[in-house]
Amino acid sequence: MEHNKKTPFPKDFLWGAASAAYQVEGAWDKDGKGPSVWDVFVRNEGVTYKGTNGDVAVDHYNRYKEDVALMAEQGLKTYRFSIAWSRIYPTGNGEVNEKGLQFYDDLIDELLKYNIEPMITLYHWDIPQSLMDQYGGWESRQVIEDFNEYAITLYKRYGDRVKYWISLNEQNYFISYGYETALHPPAVKDRKRMYAANHIANLANAKVIQSFRKYVPDGKIGPSFAYKPYYPVDSNPQNILAFENSEDLNNYYWMDMYAWGRYPVTAWKFLEENGLAPEIEEGDFELLASAKPDFMGVNYYRTTTVEENPKDGGVDIGVKNVTGKKGSTKHSGMPGMFKTTNNPHVESTNWDWDIDPQGLRIGLRRIATRYQLPVLITENGLGEFDALEEGDVVNDDYRIDYLKSHIQAIQDAMSDGVEVLGYCAWSFTDLLSWLNGYQKRYGFVYVNREEDDEKDLRRIKKKSYHWYKEVIAENGENL
Ligand code: BG6
Repeated sequence: MEHNKKTPFPKDFLWGAASAAYQVEGAWDKDGKGPSVWDVFVRNEGVTYKGTNGDVAVDHYNRYKEDVALMAEQGLKTYRFSIAWSRIYPTGNGEVNEKGLQFYDDLIDELLKYNIEPMITLYHWDIPQSLMDQYGGWESRQVIEDFNEYAITLYKRYGDRVKYWISLNEQNYFISYGYETALHPPAVKDRKRMYAANHIANLANAKVIQSFRKYVPDGKIGPSFAYKPYYPVDSNPQNILAFENSEDLNNYYWMDMYAWGRYPVTAWKFLEENGLAPEIEEGDFELLASAKPDFMGVNYYRTTTVEENPKDGGVDIGVKNVTGKKGSTKHSGMPGMFKTTNNPHVESTNWDWDIDPQGLRIGLRRIATRYQLPVLITENGLGEFDALEEGDVVNDDYRIDYLKSHIQAIQDAMSDGVEVLGYCAWSFTDLLSWLNGYQKRYGFVYVNREEDDEKDLRRIKKKSYHWYKEVIAENGENL
C-alpha cells in the first residue's frame, strides 16, 4: 500500500521510553522490599550471562532524579516503568510497605514536575518469592486475589496522577520462559503446567482491568503483548499451515483472550487433543470477556519465519543466544505444528534477532483489522554492543537506523489506518538484560558498568539520545 501523503503523528502522540523495575532499580533489599522470584533465581549457578543480577542494576532507585532530568532534557512525553510488587507488599500479600509506595510517589511527582506522563506497568515478571513459597505463584488461583489487591492499592495511591497503565508485561514470555523452556523462574519444563498457569494469569489480568474501571474511571489500561508476527517461509501450503499454527498458538492465543475473552478454536483443539488444555471453572469466561482493554500494548522487536515440523521427531525447544555470538541460536518449534527457520530477506542482530521494520507495520495492521483496538507501542528497540569512545562518546548509528526505520513503519501503519497512541522505545538508560547481562545494551543513555564491574554507573548520552530528542521536538515530521 503506497500513500501520496503520510498521516502525520497526532499532536498528543506519546513519545516515550520504557524500563522495568528489576532491570534498572537495584536496591533489591532496601527500605523494606521483599525478595522477588528474580532476586532468588539469579543466585542459581549458570542461569544468567556471567551470573549477572539486578542487585544494583543501574541504581535507578538512588539516581531517579538524575534519570528523570535526562528524560526531561530529551523531551520525553511519557516514561513507562514497572512497580516492583515486593516493594509494595514484601510478602506479596499482608502488610503494605509505606516506603515502597513512597518511592514511586516520588518518581511520579518528579516526572510530573517536567510534564512527563507516567505510565505504570503493574507487573514486569517479578512476583514476590513469598507467593511462590506460599502457593506456587501463577499456578494457584489465589494469585488472582493477591494481584488484584496489589493493583487496587496502586490505583488508589496513584490513580489521581497516572492515566496510562499496563496490566501484565509479556504474559506470553513470563509464562513460556517460566514453564516451557525453564529459562526464567520457576524454571519448569512442562507444557501442561504452562497452559494452566497462563489461564490463571489471564484471569488475573481480567480481574485487575475490571477493578481499574472502578478506581481509575478516567484512565486507560491494557496488557503489553510480546508480538512477533509470523511469516511462512514460502508459499508451500504445508508451510502456510505451519504459519497459521504458529499465529494461533503463539499470538492469537493471547491477543484473542485480551480482546475477546476466548481462545482461538484450532489452538484449543490442539491443546485438548494433547492433554494440555487448562482447567476451566464456572464463571471464567464471563470474567475474561468482561474485561476489555482500552488498547493493545505491543512490544515489538522482530518477526519470526516458520515452516512445517513433523509430529514425530520434529524440532522442539531450541537454544537461545544469550552471549551475542551471532549464529548461536538453535531453531525451536512445536512438533506437528511449526518450527522456526531463517529469513533470507532480512538482516539480524548479534543476538540473532531479525531486524524487520516492515514486520511492525504488518503486525500493527493485523491487530487493527482483527481487533479494532488502538495500539500503544510499549517497547521497541535494538540490543547491541556499544563502545564508549574517548571523551564519553557513543556513536550508536546502528540504533538510530533501527529506531528510525521502525518509527517510519509506524507512520506507514498509521497511514494505512491503524490508530497508534504512542511509542515507548526500549529503553531509556542501559539496563540489565535478564539473561544477557549488561553487554546487550538498549538505552539512549549509556550506563558505565559491566557484568563484573559496577564502575561509577555514570550516565552518558549516546548519539541516539540527541537524535530522538530531535524526533520528539519535530513530532516525527522529518524522519
Ligand atoms: C522484552 C521485555 O521481552 O524485551 C524486556 O519486556 C526485555 O524486559 C526486552 O529486556 C529485551 O529483551 P532482552 O532479552 O534482550 O533483554
